[in-house]
This record gives sequence, C-alpha cells and structure tokens, in this order.
Amino acid sequence: MSALRELYQEVILDHGKTPRNFGKPEHVTSESNGHNPLCGDTVTIYLEVKEGIVEDVGFEGRGCAISIASASMMTEVLRGKSVKEIGAMFKRFHHLVTDDDADTEGGFAGDFGGEDFEKLTVLSGVKEFPMRVKCATLAWHTMQAALKGDDQEVSTE
Ligand code: FES
Repeated sequence: MSALRELYQEVILDHGKTPRNFGKPEHVTSESNGHNPLCGDTVTIYLEVKEGIVEDVGFEGRGCAISIASASMMTEVLRGKSVKEIGAMFKRFHHLVTDDDADTEGGFAGDFGGEDFEKLTVLSGVKEFPMRVKCATLAWHTMQAALKGDDQEVSTE
C-alpha cells in the first residue's frame, strides 16, 4: 500500500472513529434524514442557516466508517459558507468521488471550497467501488435536502 493511500486510510479511520460535529446543534433551522436501504445505515444532518449562510452544522447517524467519516469531513467544510457555495461544493464533491456530473444538476463546478475542500480528496478512492460511492455521498445528498427544506427522507436507492 502506498504511503499516500495509508495516510488517506488513516484520515478516514480517524473521522470514522472520532466524528467531528457529532450531535444536534443548539439552534437548528433545517434538518433532513438520509438512509441507505442496502445496509440500513442512516444519517441526520442539522443546519443553522441565517441569511443564506450556514452558521452551524451537526450530524447524527449510524453507519460504516466511510459514511461517518464523509459526514464528519463535510461538516468541517460547511460552516460560514453560503448556500450557493455549498451547492457548488456538492457538485465538486460528487465529481471527485464519481468522475460523473450526471445527477448534480449541472456540470463540474470548478474550484469551489478552496483549501477546505482539498481535505475531502482523501475520499476520492471510493470511485473505484460503486457501493462505497453511496457511503461517501449519503451525507451530502441529505445535507442538500436539508438546505432545500425537503422533509422527505433521502434514500441512496
Ligand atoms: Fe452503509 Fe456504507 S455500508 S453507508
């Protein structure tokens, strides 16, 4: 295993074991539930959005290391970002883990998210494993639903 791959695995395991921003923040303006019916894993994303800016974010859930790590890393990059920026980051993330722009409502979004986003590249290895792509994107799809105020449960299937 290459050193880089090992490092990536360490980062994912660290976030999987010690997720950041786990729990429900004090002030929540929107939330959404996501579910992967193939494995039963679930995530709830909580957001506090004020005047189009994400002021606070947290999550709860039960899932594999990749789904928890992805949710944890996502929460680290959202705070202080505008809803518009986050939409672009979602497209960029989706492209990162799939190389596919198909279901992101538009093309590859370019360099949104800046340095913060670079940390998420540790998840790019999942693109080789279609089942794992769902683990990595569950939190992002659920967060998008929360931003849109969509109270239907998000499903990966
Ligand atoms: Fe269930 Fe990863 S195995 S989300």
